[in-house]
Amino acid sequence: MCGIVGYVGHRDCLPVLIEGIKRLEYRGYDSSGVAVQTPQGLEIVKAAGKIRQLEARLAKGAPHGTYGISHTRWATHGEPTDVNAHPHTDEQGTLALVHNGIIENYQTLKNALESEGHVFRTQTDTEVLAHLIEKYLKRGYKLERAVGAALRDVKGTYGIAVMCASEPGVLVGARHGSPMVVGIADGEYYLASDVAAIVEHTRQVIYLDDGEMAVLSPDGFHTATIDHERVEKEVHDVDWDLSQIEKGGYEHFMLKEIFEQPDAVRNGMRGRLNLEEGLARLGGLNMTPEQLREIKRIIILGCGTSWHAGLIGEYMLEEFARIPVEVEYASEFRYRNPIVDEGTLVLVISQSGETIDTLAAMREARRKGAKVLGIVNVVGSTIARESDGGVYIHAGPEIGVASTKAFTSQVTVLALLTLALGRNRGMSRDYGIEIAREMSQLPEKIERVLATDDAVKRIADLYQSSNNFIYLGRGFQFPVALEGALKLKEISYIHAEGYPAAEMKHGPIALIDESMPVVFICTRDSAYEKVVSNMQEVRARKGRIVAIATEGDTEVQRNADHVLYVPATIPMLQPILSVIPLQLLSYHVAVARGCDVDQPRNLAKSVTVE
Ligand code: G6P
Repeated sequence: MCGIVGYVGHRDCLPVLIEGIKRLEYRGYDSSGVAVQTPQGLEIVKAAGKIRQLEARLAKGAPHGTYGISHTRWATHGEPTDVNAHPHTDEQGTLALVHNGIIENYQTLKNALESEGHVFRTQTDTEVLAHLIEKYLKRGYKLERAVGAALRDVKGTYGIAVMCASEPGVLVGARHGSPMVVGIADGEYYLASDVAAIVEHTRQVIYLDDGEMAVLSPDGFHTATIDHERVEKEVHDVDWDLSQIEKGGYEHFMLKEIFEQPDAVRNGMRGRLNLEEGLARLGGLNMTPEQLREIKRIIILGCGTSWHAGLIGEYMLEEFARIPVEVEYASEFRYRNPIVDEGTLVLVISQSGETIDTLAAMREARRKGAKVLGIVNVVGSTIARESDGGVYIHAGPEIGVASTKAFTSQVTVLALLTLALGRNRGMSRDYGIEIAREMSQLPEKIERVLATDDAVKRIADLYQSSNNFIYLGRGFQFPVALEGALKLKEISYIHAEGYPAAEMKHGPIALIDESMPVVFICTRDSAYEKVVSNMQEVRARKGRIVAIATEGDTEVQRNADHVLYVPATIPMLQPILSVIPLQLLSYHVAVARGCDVDQPRNLAKSVTVE
């Protein structure tokens, strides 16, 4: 939700600020803006729409200077208009501020400020922060102190970057609930919501924690709490580079990321599988074999695609590690009074490691005394840092808003965890070896699925004008049905429902007629015959059937209009293969419908507001 970049140094800052927010566009893309201190004063340019609208405006006259801030927005309060775009200013226009998050008490603060004579120009919650800081600056506070004082008045979440004309060369960044990193180079310093915005310039970063601020100038920087106690932060080395966040010849990030899955899954398993003994090594769990054996119950938390991965984890862990598992939407968990007793292990799944609901649910679980492990992609993200331990999925940066490689990598890591816990609790060595061997073959099998891309595209072309889709699966394939439907909704705006195949009879069957495409995931497993019966029920009502089936299964062709094949593997790993044709299907349908695949309307990749 919203991307922030700040720069102070010796170069013209504008290209750094614009290129930076372009790399953060996945965080929001309904309007953008930039503020630069020029010899003439603080200049602000903003525009509704994608960053190219801002660039068009800048082409007519751009501010130049050696420090500034920029922002790409995902609207919460106030429509995405020019005036509501960030940066926001104070009364005199001498202060500029960009914000990611929600100021929950903004109305109270606004009323108080208005009664003191402040005049507001926008419908945003953010503008109150600019006026509040102005109020403290007028008391003679330095910018750092004024920002700290204003933030102490605020309830809600924020990542902010602020500059003001009266303190040349100074940028102040702060965070509470919304990520903020400081980039360090030679005489140049950066602020960013995410490393992706600055990795082109530096790989040395500091991750701010909640309640902390950073004060940057060309002469150096320091970090402190918003109460002005100095804090020394560890400098981290980012171990990925620019090529990983570029499209590399693909038309869209989503397609690139779908095709990266063999490598992503390979990287997730690297060094963690012992094929000879059928074991998984997950050092980051920070738990002894005895502690693992003491786990009585597991709660899995996540949102969106990560929640779907969690459902597959539930099926795996219950079946093979014999531990009771519940999977909860993080947003629900945090607002009820869940029972987290001794012996409960909480697994938190998040690609970004920043989703606010997941983060808040994790904190609630820890507060209740649970041991919390993260299954996270983004190294150094808040969830990764605040959990007691965990496993990075190592899928590499995922930019497309629709999650693809993160999903298959999350399921891979859940399989590793199942193997680790299963072998720790009586799973036979032989069965462990079988799982490990099947896992090691996944990258090559994923390649085989990707080779069917043309066949998927032909089906997408046939059904791209449908208004509805149903996705059905059973057992391990039920979460895949949910994920397939979610992918289609997200990027093609077609209404799609995922359902357990047998549940179809309790409702969705009423929707079926000759214009309803129904996607069945009917790979060969114990539920196969049952799913084929469900297919016949759809066929009898003239529904159009696309089947995802196991290579070599020719019988299924009798019941389906179209069949897409995936290689066989053991049932618990099958979702990693069967989801791929569904990712490709949604991709090609969206492209055929002219949708903005990487930046679908209303969505953002990293949801850092409630
Ligand atoms: C957003 C994204 C989804 C993602 C979900 C959870 O809704 O659009 O693709 O699955 O957030 O994100 P996380 O980073 O926590 O996995």
